[in-house]
Amino acid sequence: MGGCVDLPLGLFELDMNNLDEGVEFLPAMNSKKMEKRGPKRQVVVTILIIVFLLVSLTTGLLFWHFKYRNTPIQKVFNGHLRVLNWEFLDAYENSSSPEFSMLAKKVKSTVEEIYKNHADIGPYHKETVITAFSEGSVIAYYWSEFLVPKYREESLDRAMADKQSLVQRWNPRLRNPMLKVESVIAFRDCMFSLHAKEGEVTSFTTPGFPNSPYPNNALCYWALRADASSTISLTFKTLELEPCRDDSDYIKVYNSLSPVEPHALVRLCGNYAPSYNLTFLSSQNVMLVTLVTNKEGRFPGFKAEFFQLPKMKACGGSLKGDSGTFTTPYYPAHYPPDTDCVWNIEVSSIKNVKVRFNMFYVLEPGIPVSSCTKDYVQINGTRYCGEHSQFVVASTTNRIELLFHSDQSYTDTGFSAEFLSYDSSDPCPGKFTCNTGRCIDRSMRCDGWLDCVDGSDERSCTCTEQQFRCQNGWCKPKFWVCDNVNDCGDNSDELQCSCAADSFKCDNGKCVPSTQKCDGKDDCGDGSDEGSCSLTTVPCKKYTYKCRSGHCISKQNPECDGEQDCEDHSDEDNCNCGLRSYVRKSRIVGGQNSDVGEWPWQVSLHVKGQGHICGASLVSASWLVSAAHCFLPLQGIRYSDPSLWTAYLGLTNQGDLSGSGVQTHKIKRIISHPFFNDYTYDYDIAVLELQRPVTFTAVIQPICLPDATHNFPVGKDLWVTGWGATAEGGTGASILQKAEIRLINQTVCNQLLTDQLTPRMMCVGILTGGVDACQGDSGGPLVSVEASSRMFLAGVVSWGDGCAQRNKPGVYSRLTSLRDWIQEHTGL
Ligand SMILES: *[C@@H]1O[C@H](CO)[C@@H](O)[C@H](O)[C@H]1NC(C)=O
Ligand SMILES: *[C@@H]1O[C@H](CO)[C@@H](O)[C@H](O)[C@H]1NC(C)=O
Ligand SMILES: *[C@@H]1O[C@H](CO)[C@@H](O)[C@H](O)[C@H]1NC(C)=O
Ligand SMILES: *[C@@H]1O[C@H](CO)[C@@H](O)[C@H](O)[C@H]1NC(C)=O
Repeated sequence: MGGCVDLPLGLFELDMNNLDEGVEFLPAMNSKKMEKRGPKRQVVVTILIIVFLLVSLTTGLLFWHFKYRNTPIQKVFNGHLRVLNWEFLDAYENSSSPEFSMLAKKVKSTVEEIYKNHADIGPYHKETVITAFSEGSVIAYYWSEFLVPKYREESLDRAMADKQSLVQRWNPRLRNPMLKVESVIAFRDCMFSLHAKEGEVTSFTTPGFPNSPYPNNALCYWALRADASSTISLTFKTLELEPCRDDSDYIKVYNSLSPVEPHALVRLCGNYAPSYNLTFLSSQNVMLVTLVTNKEGRFPGFKAEFFQLPKMKACGGSLKGDSGTFTTPYYPAHYPPDTDCVWNIEVSSIKNVKVRFNMFYVLEPGIPVSSCTKDYVQINGTRYCGEHSQFVVASTTNRIELLFHSDQSYTDTGFSAEFLSYDSSDPCPGKFTCNTGRCIDRSMRCDGWLDCVDGSDERSCTCTEQQFRCQNGWCKPKFWVCDNVNDCGDNSDELQCSCAADSFKCDNGKCVPSTQKCDGKDDCGDGSDEGSCSLTTVPCKKYTYKCRSGHCISKQNPECDGEQDCEDHSDEDNCNCGLRSYVRKSRIVGGQNSDVGEWPWQVSLHVKGQGHICGASLVSASWLVSAAHCFLPLQGIRYSDPSLWTAYLGLTNQGDLSGSGVQTHKIKRIISHPFFNDYTYDYDIAVLELQRPVTFTAVIQPICLPDATHNFPVGKDLWVTGWGATAEGGTGASILQKAEIRLINQTVCNQLLTDQLTPRMMCVGILTGGVDACQGDSGGPLVSVEASSRMFLAGVVSWGDGCAQRNKPGVYSRLTSLRDWIQEHTGL
């Protein structure tokens, strides 16, 4: 992201007023009449031979020319034309209406006819798409794509731009020309100039939106202006571009009329969860929006709105009183660039003051958080930037001065903060005070988690029975011992179970000499020493991945990892799973609330009259995976009866069951594992078939099922989600909750749980969340992020007091050991 011009066009501080004028097509000269004559025979033969030789030569030359000198280039022109002899109908605004298709077909053939009659245009025309109609009589909008060899490009551009060039020719064969058109206008690239109207919202869209996707190889500019001494507020109402990659389609918004990097405000690609704020502010009365698309993949595009605002006079100010709140300008929209605000906060003289940032997004791409050289907040000489969950800055006096600075480029959504007065002798009444000034719940002191950023809550502790004493004095929960993660900081929790230097640690914890790795023998007992040796075919064992061909390969977790490992590529089949539609990371940081679309496989199972009872995971269009114990009879109700249940998909908020994007489905059948034991909870798994398949959407997607040989190593980070409703008999959350957890050592966990674990169970401990971090409900998903960022179902919430708590391990059904049973019943 250097300070370079990154648009492929030398467009600088131009006057963009006239950019939307385009080019008009005017009448062409009449074509010459063909002369017919009958030449003598030998002349004909001679001519034919010469023609043949010439043609061969030219063909050869042309072939060479095209093949090696001139691969055709693709060009897109946008345009509109007026149809004179046609009445406008309301139905023309609906691109799926039969009326639209009928007129679009006519306009298309008229445009094609016009192109065909021009030698510099016709041969290179590839496709024309009519994107919309508007009134007057009827104005048709379209774009046309051309494939033109380099040496003909200039003449095509000239022909498309030349006023003398083209217009509809009267065709004598058609007694009644179907459409009479005029003012055929084509833009090379799309350029629009828009001026905000006082008190009005102006909207604009990508060409064809929403009826047809934007064209390939396009370069569009929207120059936005407002009255002098105003600024612009721009909002993308809907936005769906090609998923982000280095060379994917993108939008860039500039705080100027020149597309130059030092004035870039944001680069957008892919699509964004509804919670992501797509409002941007300018610092002056102009803004430039550009769309750059590559040669493949057409996506719907965007609809945007803008309006003008009086220029902000000053921001910041003085704040007095015992407490209060303040935010960056226009929060939660992206703050304007080139802005400085100063807040002077003062509380009563006998108290001290602190500032708590509840949301903090002051992130500039490519700027290390340690330097904060571009946008930042500054308090008492210290700069803060980047993204942070809640943090506190305390003053040792009754005043604090806070400066916010944004530079010319890249803005973010800013901060929302409050200031509070505190008593210096008791800064956190009823709570524990971190050395940083943050107040935390007393129960968080000495619980093994660093709740104060500086660890002050975990100093000078006496370890309890459930805790392990690290050599450096920290107390850590015993279930973090021997999980291959250095929790103590000095690795003392891993020392007793690490392997000697010249040995290999198996996935099951056993140590084998390094020389036995990849020697063709299963020395570990779980095959992990033979797991990732080479991609060559190996004899099939119970721990080797089996391709559809029946061959086995020696690679751990090859399914859907983006690499074709099986000769028949069967390891990469059926990989339409485990990805979120909204690629952008959730902006809800610090809490455990999930964002819309964050866990698109999460299902809520409701029972009539009782509401949400259990969670489940969507694994295909028709199948769900849940826990068998959800369907046990209870208090005279036969929960195994499918007609009692309704599955809610695409749901985030239990309070909004009929919200947009939510699908409800009836259950056709419920199959619980026949070995399910309601005393030990062994084999706690069930599959549910839906009556009708679901329609996948941005918020409804299946999770990947791991192969039975898939290895989820001890110490791996996983996520559990759910509304947590039934587990503790509480009311549960209304917003879908998430918690980050870690797989813990089965041997250690079994000791803590007094031998209650079976091979169908896995043990996890919670990594995030407050004291009441009780997330997930029975039947819900435990997911793992694997190669190529796909998520796999690792487990199903089973027992362990129902949910993962801070100081207790949770127990989940182990998907891999129940995988064959799932396959047998669902065919997946
Ligand atoms: C558009 O036309 C189609 C086909 O006639 C119709 O099903 C649909 O409801 C129309 N949409 C709107 C928004 O009128
Ligand atoms: C984005 O910020 C604007 C301006 O403050 C606000 O009106 C809008 O509701 C916000 N949108 C979202 C999705 O938060
Ligand atoms: C500002 O920081 C200095 C240390 O850098 C500290 O001594 C002083 O107390 C701080 N001032 C306030 C008002 O917090
Ligand atoms: C689990 O812990 C035991 C000691 O309790 C240790 O021997 C074993 O290696 C550990 N397993 C793993 C996979 O680290």
